[in-house]
Amino acid sequence: MDRQESLKVNVDGVRGFGLRNVSSQASLSEMDDFDLSKLLDKPRLNIERKRSFDERSLSELSIALTRGLDNYESTYSPGQSVLDTPASSARNSFEPHPIVAEAWEALRWSLVHFRGQPVGTIAAYDHASEEVLNYDQVFVRDFVPSALAFLMNGEPDIVKNFLLKTLQLQGWEKKIDRFKLGEGAMPASFKVLHDPVRKTDSVVADFGESAIGRVAPVDSGFWWIILLRAYTKSTGDLSLAEKPECQKGIKLIMSLCLSEGFDTFPTLLCADGCSMIDRRMGIYGYPIEIQALFFMSLRCALALLKHDEDGNEFIERIVKRLHALSYHMRSYFWLDFQQLNDIYRYKTEEYSHTAVNKFNVIPNSIPEWVFDFMPMRGGYFIGNVSPARMDFRWFVLGNCVAILSCLATTDQASAIMDLIEERWEELVGEMPLKICYPAIESHEWRIVTGCDPKNTRWSYHNGGSWPVLLWLLTAACIKTGRIQIARRAIDLAENRLLKDGWPEYYDGKLGRYIGKQARKYQTWSIAGYLVAKMMLEDPSHLGMISLEVDKQMKPVMKRSSSWTC
Ligand code: GLC
Repeated sequence: MDRQESLKVNVDGVRGFGLRNVSSQASLSEMDDFDLSKLLDKPRLNIERKRSFDERSLSELSIALTRGLDNYESTYSPGQSVLDTPASSARNSFEPHPIVAEAWEALRWSLVHFRGQPVGTIAAYDHASEEVLNYDQVFVRDFVPSALAFLMNGEPDIVKNFLLKTLQLQGWEKKIDRFKLGEGAMPASFKVLHDPVRKTDSVVADFGESAIGRVAPVDSGFWWIILLRAYTKSTGDLSLAEKPECQKGIKLIMSLCLSEGFDTFPTLLCADGCSMIDRRMGIYGYPIEIQALFFMSLRCALALLKHDEDGNEFIERIVKRLHALSYHMRSYFWLDFQQLNDIYRYKTEEYSHTAVNKFNVIPNSIPEWVFDFMPMRGGYFIGNVSPARMDFRWFVLGNCVAILSCLATTDQASAIMDLIEERWEELVGEMPLKICYPAIESHEWRIVTGCDPKNTRWSYHNGGSWPVLLWLLTAACIKTGRIQIARRAIDLAENRLLKDGWPEYYDGKLGRYIGKQARKYQTWSIAGYLVAKMMLEDPSHLGMISLEVDKQMKPVMKRSSSWTC
């Protein structure tokens, strides 16, 4: 596509911004009826699948709005932004910020076509970079914000094409050396090869066999299911999810993560580098990033699976896992001031089911920084929990996905937002958003990262700041009614992103410097910004990527309560 042509498309894209032709409020009615205990009681399901479209979108909107209104004291009237406040009214006139148009143009430049059809977006379109590596590929996780941007702009076809193309790739036989990977594994990325002579297109995919470190992306399958649900919700088109091949794809992914083994926990055991943080960073074990995505995709699968005989068997297994997983996560991964104080005073070497310190965490292993970091107000899901090991680091993706999927209770969700507010300088700084906090340094960096020169302190995955995370923060803010936090973060990003050429990440304690080896024109930095903007403009978009509370989920029993009784 030449530049002229692309500009033309871009104008349409920008025009579409705010003038969507596809409603994001289409209903996947069964998703609203997420009632685990009912399902457990009646394994052969008969869920009431009909809840009206309007009812759903209204109830969803009202959560966002009432919470927003608590803070904003404004009333909703059609045609007027619900987020109007005197302070921000200048920004609410539906006049897109000048960089929005540039962002759309850049996003369209990243489109990848297969036999004439758009099937995804490349990771980065950085002409200046000499080292392309695999940034010219379509990454599954990177495409998620692009997909959401297109869905929100009323352009669902590319998302459908992507879902079908990656589904096809799932069907390939995957091998690393002589070892065969699970059937359900989804690729980390794929590339379209154009043969100009024969005029044919072909695809190569990477399931971990080419990836640095040779790790399979556990998150890809989860994102695929989450995106399928977003597509269905946004378009109201149930026919894609109901296709036998899509149903099979969901079941294959579910089979991978629901299989029984030696596990004693409902969380998913993972290798280092299996998610957005795709190289050694000490997240092996049960990383929050994966557990939150696992939970969300279980809930999405529950909504998407057809209730036939085979489907019902999966539904039953999913429901049981959701119960166990939410209990485990809410009890053992949650940390706030009280909890930290309890752990600090833990007894060790307890035996039998009466143990309070179930994983035998030695209080001496609590890092110094966490005592200063923990505010009186706020809390979060820590990075990892396994025998005698708690990784107290903060990971933003896992915490935001926990909010969006309702893995976090309502109180926990507000506490996470409180923490972000209380620790703004550390977690947001000058460029949203730190991928994790704090960075690991010196000897610990040597041991944990294996001396990774890309992951030096406050850089890249080791405490670097990633603009893509802005969309997740914004979604979490809307869900919890804390829109002012999103505004503040977007303002920061807006001041720099275009000027700096949409970097992949920023470095430094405050995220002030463009990342040492950051790519420019990183697609998910661009798309993440657009999604954040569009969601703020029309909070009903949130429904694509957010699930409602399951009121039947039992409240968490505090660990300390088993001690006292
Ligand atoms: C880096 C990131 C990974 C991303 C890829 C493509 O490897 O760590 O999360 O998917 O780049 O942008």
